[in-house]
Amino acid sequence: MKRRQFINLLSVSLFLSLSPLFLAVVYGNKPKYKPKKQENWISIGTVAELDKNGQILKEKTSLGAILVIGTSESQKLIAVNPICTHLGCTVDWEAEENIFLCPCHASEFTAEGKVQNGPATKPLSIYKTKIEKNTVMVTRI
Ligand code: FES
Repeated sequence: MKRRQFINLLSVSLFLSLSPLFLAVVYGNKPKYKPKKQENWISIGTVAELDKNGQILKEKTSLGAILVIGTSESQKLIAVNPICTHLGCTVDWEAEENIFLCPCHASEFTAEGKVQNGPATKPLSIYKTKIEKNTVMVTRI
């Protein structure tokens, strides 16, 4: 083996044997930083509408249908997608029982959207809420 061939073979061998180590150092030390998800708040209605009816139903938003329950005096507003996960009827809020009730086949959901009684098996989607400058706002959780 000539000297030049030996050096080439040595270079290739070194490169191949060290490249996994190099990749591990470069990609293994990547910061675990994940950019915070941008909260995309949308307006559902006014505080006056909410206080008048104790709820606002908006059937078409960029997040789908949204039903907000409560008033500006409530400690916490409830916001769900009111489309029943069984066959798609719109659930009603039953304030006395603190549940969402589907008028079609009587599925019941808790205020947190969890199924309390079937036939529905999947929960209602829930949303974060806030009141800002007399506007009721909602975003994904
Ligand atoms: S559509 Fe709601 S229970 Fe069937």
